[in-house]
Amino acid sequence: SKEPEVTRWFYLPSWKRADLPIVLEAKEVEADRASVPGACWLIFEDGEGLGPQITRRLRELAKDAIPVIPGTRFARLDGGAYALDPGRREDYLALIQDLRAQGRTPTVILHLWNVTSDGRVPLTAVAVDAAQERGFYSLLFLVQALGKAAVTTPLQIGVVATHMLEVTGEETLHPGKATALGLCRVIPQEYPHITCRAVDVPTPAPWAAWSKGLVDRLITEFVLKPPEVTVAYRGRHRWVQRFEPLPEDHLPTGPVRLRKRGVYLITGGLGRIGLVLAEHLARTVQARLILVGRSGLPERAAWEAWLATHDEEDRTSHRIRQVQALEALGAEVMVAGADVADEAQMRAVIAQARERFGTLHGVIHAAGIVGEASIRAIQETDPADCEQQFRAKVYGSLMLEQALDGAHLDFCLLQSSLASILGGLGFAAYAAANSFLDALAHRRRADGLPWTSVDWDGWRFGEEHRAAMGRVAADLTLTPEEGVRAFDHLLALGDLPQVVVSTGDLQARIARWVRREPPAEAGPSRDGDSAKAQHPRPELGTAYVPPRTDLEQTIAEMWQKVLGIERVGVYDNFFELGGHSLLATQLISQLRDTFHVELPLRDLFENPTVAGLAESIETVRWAAQGMQAAPGAADEREEGEL
Ligand SMILES: NC(=O)c1ccc[n+]([C@@H]2O[C@H](COP(=O)([O-])OP(=O)(O)OC[C@H]3O[C@@H](n4cnc5c(N)ncnc54)[C@H](OP(=O)(O)O)[C@@H]3O)[C@@H](O)[C@H]2O)c1
Repeated sequence: SKEPEVTRWFYLPSWKRADLPIVLEAKEVEADRASVPGACWLIFEDGEGLGPQITRRLRELAKDAIPVIPGTRFARLDGGAYALDPGRREDYLALIQDLRAQGRTPTVILHLWNVTSDGRVPLTAVAVDAAQERGFYSLLFLVQALGKAAVTTPLQIGVVATHMLEVTGEETLHPGKATALGLCRVIPQEYPHITCRAVDVPTPAPWAAWSKGLVDRLITEFVLKPPEVTVAYRGRHRWVQRFEPLPEDHLPTGPVRLRKRGVYLITGGLGRIGLVLAEHLARTVQARLILVGRSGLPERAAWEAWLATHDEEDRTSHRIRQVQALEALGAEVMVAGADVADEAQMRAVIAQARERFGTLHGVIHAAGIVGEASIRAIQETDPADCEQQFRAKVYGSLMLEQALDGAHLDFCLLQSSLASILGGLGFAAYAAANSFLDALAHRRRADGLPWTSVDWDGWRFGEEHRAAMGRVAADLTLTPEEGVRAFDHLLALGDLPQVVVSTGDLQARIARWVRREPPAEAGPSRDGDSAKAQHPRPELGTAYVPPRTDLEQTIAEMWQKVLGIERVGVYDNFFELGGHSLLATQLISQLRDTFHVELPLRDLFENPTVAGLAESIETVRWAAQGMQAAPGAADEREEGEL
């Protein structure tokens, strides 16, 4: 539930020491082989020697360890290894199919392609792209291949990398590697049989070898399966990431760091959050504002004519009125049409702003792609979808610094999202882009720049928006007024690289959605499901229609359990009943287990009713029967949507 006191919404990332005993005795190591016939470990080996050492050690322990190295095309190599082209999606499927043909099933995949020793990488798009191909896209393609090959045995994925997480403050982060963190959050939510753990390791000094201790610890991490999902090894110790409520002594004491008639640049400034913050700056300090978005506005001289010839609903008219309202509050506003990822355009905007206002005091980077355009199931995510997300948040934030050209700012606030910590169905690329922002802010702080990444909870703009969000999701959102109070509080907090704004208990949300623990208030019931209190069916626009078939009855009972609602009609909308994307993960896994079908996630988003799901399940079953009867059916099935 939502915490009423805004000052309690702030959390900081921190690390706790949590060493594990090294357990490499035959009993533990053998456990998965006993339960999964043909169990094997896939090791995506790095070029620094850690992966090969892990493979050797696993083989000493009599494990079936299969190395996979980057190459120019898919190939079986001597010594039981594979090569594949990291950028070719088909190669990952070829790998999984080849393993299956041999009766081998990966139970652990260690992905080490982002273990590199290139310490202080310059923050350029080229360096980021290289890390993305090795770390983000290869992980995405790998999981898509597992999905396409319908591998549903329990699987642990370990994303092991260097320079991905900051623990001691002495590391130099490579934010391009951090996008894998966002993906790690979402994979287990969309594929409930997969767990994903991100493990950051330090590079040894050039003359030193990887220690045997680290190799054994890393193997132990996946033998013991501890619940932590973000882990770092430093020296002899293991650290786990936590998010702690902002300590009392960190509460703001000084005034908000806004200057009277200060000059503030807001990327995405004509978007929803951008305009809320612009209005706040106009109202409180009569700021001089530069609002940047790709679409911009017509020339000022044409505004009156535009307003006269377009209706109230017109997007541009709405934005013109908003800018006029800012000016009525005492602000001076410069609207600039520019793509934040285009260095030349951003340099031109900043030069123009300096010419007009003489200086620049702060930046709010709120450009981003949100809403439906940002939701895509992993199985259906193309590089183009990711690049759309990365444009403003990855390349845009890189360009911003170059275009700012060493400007001395009071602050640069990056509008990141709680999705980088909690994930969310359909948010693979979005969470990845926001993880990049978080890591970039850490790196900039280390370089002495006043950048802060703010992982915002969801905002709600008006009652219509609330109705569209579903009850539970809407209950936790923050209103624009609350957002403004949180913003003031954030500015007064001082020099922090990353602050999380969560209106509900963040630890509980992480436990539930990331570690996938049952909710605290509900003990596990006999069948392992969470036994929720049953609430009456709320008032809906749809009349109650009871289930008409056994299939609908079973699905409706699942919804009742997941949503904690007494009775669910076959045309009731999952999201209107309080469902949200994270609760939908439970449904998907239950549907898979009960009906042995793989439904595309899109089905639940597009047709969120019991009747709609029953129809989808019938269709999938019917198609599967047809395929069993036809020769070559298995191959065709992998090409379909099942
Ligand atoms: N809304 C939420 O609940 C929420 C929660 C957490 C975090 N956030 C983050 O807060 C930011 C703002 O969210 P919002 O709800 O205000 O979204 P919004 O209303 O869609 O505004 C975002 C603005 O960014 C602009 N934009 C997108 N790509 C751009 C680019 N390459 N260059 C320049 N401008 C670009 C868009 O304008 P053009 O199309 O004209 O370019 C749009 O007006 C986003 O980064 C989002 O991830 C939002």
